[in-house]
Amino acid sequence: MQLDVFTLTPHAYAWLTEQRPVATVLGTELDLRLFSYRDTTPLRSGQVDDEPYGGGAGMVLRVDVVSAALDAVYGGVPSHRVVALSPQGRQLTQELVEELAVEPKLTLLSARYEGFDERIVEHLCTDSISVGPYVLSNGDLPAMLLVDAIARRLPGALAEGSGEIESFSAELGGGLEYPHYTRPAEFRGWQVPEVLLSGDHAVVERWRKEHVR
Ligand SMILES: C[S@@+](CC[C@H](N)C(=O)[O-])C[C@H]1O[C@@H](n2cnc3c(N)ncnc32)[C@H](O)[C@@H]1O
Repeated sequence: MQLDVFTLTPHAYAWLTEQRPVATVLGTELDLRLFSYRDTTPLRSGQVDDEPYGGGAGMVLRVDVVSAALDAVYGGVPSHRVVALSPQGRQLTQELVEELAVEPKLTLLSARYEGFDERIVEHLCTDSISVGPYVLSNGDLPAMLLVDAIARRLPGALAEGSGEIESFSAELGGGLEYPHYTRPAEFRGWQVPEVLLSGDHAVVERWRKEHVR
């Protein structure tokens, strides 16, 4: 997958690219490209946002700036999906992650301050996605969250089997995964469920099914 992120802070993604699973698939299943709006802005002094028409606080990311960034990279509005990260967008779910993870190309747009000039969302994007019903300071944490969630669905990102049975998966009927325990079997009187120590695979499986939440 070619995954492009447009942002004002490409350097902020360094941490993400060093972490699994993104690091595991980088250069093979994932081609992650980071672009700064400032590199292609048609405005002077690296300007990218402006005061809102109608007045009010904050600055708004300009449509001509985002259009110029897309022109520079794709020669126009790309034919693949372009996602604006916005609190007003469709709420992100695992189902939507799975849908995006099979796209061969995907573009994410991050904004800051007051957000996007609405014409960006209307005319330059195919999707608008929110990572939750709360407001963050910019779209970079949402973009990183989405990159991570997508990367772990790409082939080879996870150890064999570990991405199949997990919360929200079809294997668990879309439910939340059963509880996990590890050593010690008893700590301050807190016991691991006896059944998990039994060594009886079928009984353990049944217990886990019963404890999907
Ligand atoms: C401070 S927010 C803008 C909030 C906007 N004025 C509002 O009231 O809805 C700045 C940017 O952060 C990103 N952002 C903040 N919260 C987000 C969320 N829950 N999901 C996705 N992106 C978010 C978006 O790119 C947004 O344009």
